[in-house]
Amino acid sequence: MRVRSVMSKLTIFLLLLFCLQKQQLQSQSQEIICAGEVAGGPFSGGRSYSSCIPLPYLDAILFWTYYPSSAALDVAYRARQSPAGWVAWAINPTGRGMVGANAFLAFPDAATGAATVITTQLPRHNLQPSDIRDEALTFAVYVREAEYSADGGYYTIYATVELPGNRTTQNTVWQASTTFAGGLPFNHPFDRDHLSSFASLDFLTGELA
Ligand SMILES: *[C@@H]1O[C@H](CO)[C@@H](O)[C@H](O)[C@H]1NC(C)=O
Repeated sequence: MRVRSVMSKLTIFLLLLFCLQKQQLQSQSQEIICAGEVAGGPFSGGRSYSSCIPLPYLDAILFWTYYPSSAALDVAYRARQSPAGWVAWAINPTGRGMVGANAFLAFPDAATGAATVITTQLPRHNLQPSDIRDEALTFAVYVREAEYSADGGYYTIYATVELPGNRTTQNTVWQASTTFAGGLPFNHPFDRDHLSSFASLDFLTGELA
């Protein structure tokens, strides 16, 4: 009797120890992923983020840190793409999908070939080349930067924005393509993945919906 109770206590203790270790490993691996030890290599400037989530389409991951006191969101959007193509990440403060999206577009500068980024509002379904121009967004943009990492072939868009309305759940949209008009990104494939690449994202829990 006595031996059995000691044994079962030991079993419970070992189980607890195992669970704790597993939890620690999981949170460690999450930290490592979010610190930029991901496909494409570390982020430039030693940047790191508190959260990250792989997005369900177009080979992309979003990393972010939310600063409640300033209602600011720091993001790194990393997506696989050929160096001659473009990628985009957007917040849509007024609806789901593309129409109304406030977008960051990363692409090779037509003159230098270096990765560059512009911000543009996407006002309608039937976009025209003139709709794509570098302009202010409906919310403040404090930082915008783009880089291309040849290691695996990834664009990264770095942005710091004022989270519209300080709302921690936002409609997000992302895109990728290889077509241009007048040196600026224009048009994308209309297959399932390129038409499904939007989701509402809860920046507190990391939940996509
Ligand atoms: C943003 O919302 C958070 C959580 O409700 C709050 O603590 C913070 O003060 C707000 N920040 C601003 C700048 O309004």
